[in-house]
This record gives sequence, C-alpha cells and structure tokens, in this order.
Amino acid sequence: MKIIIIANRLPVKIERSDDGFNIIRSEGGLATGLGSLETESDIYWVGWPGIFTENEKEKKEITERLHDLNFHPVFLSADQIENYYEGYSNSTIWPLCHYFFSYIEYRADYWEAYQQVNSLFCDESMQFIEDDDIVWVQDYQLMLLPKKIRDKKPNANIGYFHHIPFPSYELFRVLPEREEILEGLLGADLIGFHTHDYMRHFISAIYRVLNINCNLDEVNLDNRIIHIDAFPMGINYEQYNQAPKLPEVKVKSDLLREKLGERSIILSVDRLDYSKGILHRLNGFAQFLENNPDYHEKVSLAMIVVPSRDTVDIYAELKTKIDQLIGEINGKYSKLGWNPIFYFYRSFSFDELIAMYDVAEIALVTPLRDGMNLVAKEYLATKCNRPGVLILSEMAGAAIELQDAIIINPNDTDQIENAILQAMNIPAKEKKERLEKMQKRISRQDVRKWSNDFVKELLSIKTQNKEIL
Ligand code: UDP
Ligand code: G6P
Repeated sequence: MKIIIIANRLPVKIERSDDGFNIIRSEGGLATGLGSLETESDIYWVGWPGIFTENEKEKKEITERLHDLNFHPVFLSADQIENYYEGYSNSTIWPLCHYFFSYIEYRADYWEAYQQVNSLFCDESMQFIEDDDIVWVQDYQLMLLPKKIRDKKPNANIGYFHHIPFPSYELFRVLPEREEILEGLLGADLIGFHTHDYMRHFISAIYRVLNINCNLDEVNLDNRIIHIDAFPMGINYEQYNQAPKLPEVKVKSDLLREKLGERSIILSVDRLDYSKGILHRLNGFAQFLENNPDYHEKVSLAMIVVPSRDTVDIYAELKTKIDQLIGEINGKYSKLGWNPIFYFYRSFSFDELIAMYDVAEIALVTPLRDGMNLVAKEYLATKCNRPGVLILSEMAGAAIELQDAIIINPNDTDQIENAILQAMNIPAKEKKERLEKMQKRISRQDVRKWSNDFVKELLSIKTQNKEIL
C-alpha cells in the first residue's frame, strides 16, 4: 500500500537558474507540514511544481528530476494559472473561506478553469493509483477531485483534508457553485478539518445545501459511509526542537544574538496575505511604540513576509500598503543605530528561519483568520535554548490547542499593545511554565500522529463499508 498525496503545490518548487533549474522547498503550511512527514508507507506526491513552461524538453527534464524524489509534476498552462490558481482558488474560494466577503470574485471563466484543472489532476493521478492505495487529496484547490476519482475508481480509499477554515453556512451559501463543491468533497470516504468548528460548518452546509443529514460525524450516501472529523495538524516536533543545536544553525543564531546585543526581538513570519493581519499587527506595534517610549532602542519587530500570490491584485496592493506603513513607522521612530522594524520581503532557508525563531524573545502571530498556523507551533518547538513568549490571535485554528499563549483579538490594537507589554514583563517562571505546557502538547500531537490518525480512520471506514455492502 502506498499513500498518494495529491495537492496543488508539491513540497518543493522549481525555479529557473543560470544553468537550468533549482529545486527549492515550498512555503506554506501544507507543503512544510506534509513535506516533513515520515511514515512507514511509501509516499508519492502529485502536484504543481510552481513553474510555467510550455517547452516539452524542459517538462521532461523537470519530470525526471522530480520522479527521483517520488514527486509527479502536473504542469499548468498560463490560462490555468490565471483562472484556476489565481482565479477560482485564490480570488473566490480563499477569500470566501477566510471571511473576506468583499474580496470574493465570481467569474464563469474561473469556475470553468477550476473544473478543467481538477479533471487534469484526476487524469494525471490515475496512472499511479492501485487498488489498495490510499489517495489523499489536499486542500481547497482540489475540492472536486474526490468525486472525480470516485467516478473512475469506485472502490478507492479517498481522503480529503481542508487546510483552511470552512466558513459558516451563511457565508458559504453565497457561492454559486456551492452544490458542486460539496458533492465533489463527498466523493471522499473521510473529510478532515483542523477544528471542530470548521467541521460543524461543513456538516451544516451539506444539510442546508444538499439536504443530507449527518449522524454525528457520519453520512450515509449511495450505500457508502463517509466520515467527517477534526484532525488538528501538527509539525515535525523533533526536527524543530533539535534544529537550534545543529552547528550550521548555531553559527547563525550566535551571530544574530551578537549583533542584537541587549535588544529584544519580536518576530513575525507570514506569507504575504490579507488573512494574516499584517497591517493590524503593524498598527498595534506602532501604538506600542507611541505609548511606551521606554522601550525605544530596546526592542525591534523583525517582520518576515514571504512573497505569495503577488500576481493577484489584492495581494499586490497589500504589499504596497505594508511597505508604506513600515516606512512611516520607521521614519517616525528610528534613531541612529536603532530601527523599530526590520523588514524582510523574501523567503528564508530552514536554517535561517530556525535561527530567527531561536533568538526571538516574542512571536507575534496575529492572523484575522487562519486554518491552523504552523508558524506558532514551529516557534514554540524551536525554543529549546532560550525561552520565548507566544502572542497568538484567537482567530487561528492553533489557538484551540495553544491556550497558554497570550491570546488576543487581532482587530483590537489595544490588545496587541498590552500583549506586547505583558510579554516583555512576564516573570521567568511563568514564561517557562507556559512554554513547557504548550511544547508538551505539540510534541504529542505532531504531524506524524496527525497523518497516522487520519489514515487509520480512513482504513477503518473501508472495513465498515465492506460490512454494510
Ligand atoms: N516558511 C517557509 N519559509 C519562510 C517562512 C516561512 O518555508 O521563509 C514556512 C513556515 O516554516 C511554515 C509555513 O511557511 O511552515 C507557513 O505555514 P502557516 O501554517 O503558518 O501558514 P500558511 O502559509 O500555510 O497560511
Ligand atoms: C496555505 C494553503 C496551501 C497553500 C499555501 C501556500 O497553506 O492552505 O494550500 O499551498 O497556503 O500558498 P500557494 O498559493 O503559494 O500554494
């Protein structure tokens, strides 16, 4: 038995270089989380390699290099990238699921491309799927795929995991294609969400839209049992917990510490995304600086923003607003030898990121909505040398498990200001206790347990289905 993971994005992406192509790791929780998965079963990935080419020779070269890593690339045309990826996935479904109602675009050509690319993923995957395999479809870009695979392979073991929030029915109902999307998902045997709330919203949507009743977490459809369940995704805890001790990381963190001297660092790490609350965070930090001059020259915010989807207008506009606001804050408060904000608009390597987690006294994670937020968990796991404080938005799925963080409402700048003050002054004993409690929790609920729980439940449904047939 092998596990075939089908996701829009592979855990690595291909970038052009002077002498051909580079393979680099993808950003985003889905790719980093699932990319660090270790299981007894063989894992085979099907997904987009993040590069556009129509040159058959290049496609062949990329395919061969990725096959060595057990990755199968699905190439998208320029039109598909525009209408399926930037369009329906990221201008319709993404804002819908993150409650950004006014950002949702409804366009027939987006929907057309979404259906077409879901069929393309189905066709590409068919060549690898054998009878006993587990087919595990990932995320909102491929919500029609479970049904498409079921139509071709009625007995396949199909799981689907939704990595982002599932909105309440009152919002979901606005989607013109709500029926098709739900029917697509119900092609799976097991549908997983990060939290019980998202799961409840989904159950309510299938009832209200399709008039399908769910008995606790079970749906009976066409003589098939479908389970719906919550599986909070974890990280590879050991990997993050051990990483600060690696010599190549230690060199970097020691150098950073030396450069920072006595100054404290508040760290934030996000993809460029309006759901991450980056502007709210900046306003909260500016208010902290305004009201607390004693902390000037003692603390800086290191803000890592990883470029993402910047060909979508809303994202490009957000980038401009972030640049402007950081310019204003630094312009107003900077002193010779001290900047309130260090801003990095680029991707960090794993070692660089760990070094940043390691030196940061505080992590400021303030999404307006977030399915889970793995950055919060990675920060905590990495704190094996120096303790740290996590300030976390109650709107992140991770907040359910991380109640020992300083929990805030990201829309309230007073709360952000007060949380920073609290974090700066937290007694050492309390800091350690809170950290250890959260570390214990995320070390138990790691990514391996997450995937094992999912696969175990998927296999049990297969047995249950055999019994009722
Ligand atoms: N990340 C990365 N490179 C960077 C910064 C972040 O690979 O330069 C990773 C980070 O380690 C984390 C992921 O991107 O695993 C972000 O996941 P999260 O769940 O926090 O948010 P998402 O991007 O999935 O919305
Ligand atoms: C989130 C989504 C993933 C996506 C990632 C990065 O984590 O849940 O499906 O891969 O963001 O976004 P991108 O558009 O670059 O794949």
